[in-house]
Amino acid sequence: MAEIGSDIFKAAKLLASGEVIAIPTETVYGLGAIAFDLVAVSRVFEIKQRPFFDPLILHFANKKSAFAFFKSAPADFEKLANYFWPGPLTLVAEKNEEVPDIITAGSSLVAVRVPNHPLTLELLEIIDAPLAAPSANPFGYVSPTNPEHVQDNLGDLIPYILDGGPCKLGIESTILGYKEGKIQLWRLGAIDKSAIENVLGYQIEELIAQNSKPDAPGQLDKHYSPLTPIFLTTQMEMESKIANATSNEFSDVAVLFFGDLPDTVVAATSFQFNLSENRDLFEAAHKLYAGLRQLDRGGYKEIWAVLLPDFGVGKAINDRLKRASVKE
Ligand code: TXA
Ligand code: MG
Repeated sequence: MAEIGSDIFKAAKLLASGEVIAIPTETVYGLGAIAFDLVAVSRVFEIKQRPFFDPLILHFANKKSAFAFFKSAPADFEKLANYFWPGPLTLVAEKNEEVPDIITAGSSLVAVRVPNHPLTLELLEIIDAPLAAPSANPFGYVSPTNPEHVQDNLGDLIPYILDGGPCKLGIESTILGYKEGKIQLWRLGAIDKSAIENVLGYQIEELIAQNSKPDAPGQLDKHYSPLTPIFLTTQMEMESKIANATSNEFSDVAVLFFGDLPDTVVAATSFQFNLSENRDLFEAAHKLYAGLRQLDRGGYKEIWAVLLPDFGVGKAINDRLKRASVKE
């Protein structure tokens, strides 16, 4: 079991001595190592069982130290960083020579962000080095949004979980890349595209990565997935399936939904998890991973997830649900 505590000096000491620890951010918990400690960084991949071709985000205390690791970046990245940092925005651009290849999976690009969590910002100040940190979950599994989630999955593999409470946002950062002179949206996340476009004053293209495997272009990766099979549905589809059922075939099904659910669906299924009674998309993002984890522990045969309104952060939630439902 890992120790769970909020001692940033202890966390800094462990990192400095080459350990990998869990750190809180406003999005999800990260599995952090000092970016220049190549042994510790390779332990991050090992602990997560993450393939080495999947690059890591570097976390910094402020914009100045983050941009120092870019060889070049578009001027508009500065504008976005000024507006959204500290916050759930990751920027990807040409790296300088200081960034180890293991971090970027050999790519000439590096991903950086300044997370918005007071404990982690203080920790970054103390260690005075970037932290390489992917989400603190086993590769492919549901991301962690509180210390217990990390303990459940990785507690035996790390010494310390820096306890920053439940993550405020609960969904990963939005990732922007830069290609052929244009800023592009590479991962849907906590900040939605229109908010970015409002700051930029122009529209950007979506080039959402289907997967991280260089040899499987276009194929959607299974990711963010509970062990229980998860299926996407709509209220209407669920209602009609239940109306046409000949037996109580849904009695072992748990439903993840948003807002309200028809009485017939409630009666026919085993358990229902409401992401937000008031149809608040931010509340839904905040509860998403905890909800999936709770349903996964319930021993149900299947999870049915009702897709959310496809705008704002709802788009990022639907993206995670789609990936979670990919069957191998
Ligand atoms: O909110 C977040 O971003 C969280 C917290 C902990 O900061 N981190 C996170 O990391 O979601 P992770 O490792 O689960 O996802 C990072 C993704 C990679 O899978 C990849 O898609 C993209 O970031 N990425 C990282 N470095 C990249 C690079 N050099 N080029 C392109 N994409 C990169
Ligand atoms: Mg992740």
